[in-house]
Amino acid sequence: MTDKKSILLIIGGGIAAYKCLELIRRLKEHNISVTPVLTKAGAEFVTPLSLATLAETQVHTDLFDLKNETEIGHIQLSRQADFVVVAPATADLMAKMANGLANDLASTLLLATDKDVLVAPAMNVRMWDHPATQRNIATLRQDGVLFVGPDDGDMACGETGPGRLSEPDQIVQAIQAVLHVKKGPLSGKSVLITAGPTHEPIDPVRYIANRSSGKQGYALAEMAASLGADVTLVSGPTKLSPPAGVRYIGIETAREMRDATLANLPADIAICAAAVADWRVKKSAGQKMKKSKDGLPVLDLAENPDILATLSDLKDNRPHLLIGFAAETETVIEHAKKKLKKKGCDWIVANDVSTEGNVFGNDETSIHIITKDSVESFEKVTKSEAAQHVLLKAAETLK
Ligand code: CTP
Repeated sequence: MTDKKSILLIIGGGIAAYKCLELIRRLKEHNISVTPVLTKAGAEFVTPLSLATLAETQVHTDLFDLKNETEIGHIQLSRQADFVVVAPATADLMAKMANGLANDLASTLLLATDKDVLVAPAMNVRMWDHPATQRNIATLRQDGVLFVGPDDGDMACGETGPGRLSEPDQIVQAIQAVLHVKKGPLSGKSVLITAGPTHEPIDPVRYIANRSSGKQGYALAEMAASLGADVTLVSGPTKLSPPAGVRYIGIETAREMRDATLANLPADIAICAAAVADWRVKKSAGQKMKKSKDGLPVLDLAENPDILATLSDLKDNRPHLLIGFAAETETVIEHAKKKLKKKGCDWIVANDVSTEGNVFGNDETSIHIITKDSVESFEKVTKSEAAQHVLLKAAETLK
């Protein structure tokens, strides 16, 4: 176990706030100390006394507590911990965070902190699904805020769906991943992963895309985090929830994916698992294209940037280990070997996407890890097992 770490735990108002007591207990068991900050609404559900007893420290509730401003000050409070966790994070608290409001202690600390922030949302399913909440979540992810949950299931309000606070164990795991207190073979390593398809707009309602589900890239991100890495996932649109404790950057187009990937260097390991659209429409229409009696529209295409090849060509910032994926339908290993040379990466992970071995959207796959001088095959493995094989080999290589 490394040095003792500390977190600032901001507790929002919701029935799930009671789970914080268990969370504090678990964190202490893992040698992580907790300074609780209780919002006014949170205090309707748990008492400062029970939090202070479990955390064995003072609970902060009020922005205008002059004694504290003299002794510690809200700026210092927001920065003295190693990490900030918001659990439960209500729709209101996330709206404040997304818009930079600072009208109470919790929101002020969140605006003033220079530390990573992990949010564990909890709210009614309709509130979670509301476009305003989803917009705020997208903004927060863009700002680099990390998420764990929410879980799907029965809720205190009688409805069912996403919105339940993650279980304390899951939140502890996400915190450990960010603090790197869970020693793993990838501890101290940064891993940058591209995943999913890209969407290339034709007009505001139509786009060019492909069948990638993103499952392999997300499995890599989840596994890398559980092996102790600091993970950034740059993903095109998918139906998947980003794994807990992983920095998530959502993009749509290949060019946005390239920019986000370059902006997140340096990285020890970069894995390009995305199915980037090879082409985009040169000039997408500003308005929805209408059918015309004069004939069919012609799409004038341009080639998209090759992100893997771009990373490989970098002079100063090239990732130490650069891994590409190859989706092939025939003579898989030969094609993948050619791709390894063409792209200039260190390894290619090849898989067969012919109808027989169709892996799009499936949980199972067969992979071949191809390096300059070796081929290792893993037949009929889950995408999570495939991720583990790739990442353990990567950890071994970077030792
Ligand atoms: N890739 C990329 N940027 C692109 C195209 C591909 O980063 N514009 C990456 C993929 O993420 C993958 C690897 O390159 O890691 C190979 O992708 P694949 O689609 O199999 O190869 P292509 O270069 O598109 O070659 P082809 O379609 O001709 O087989």
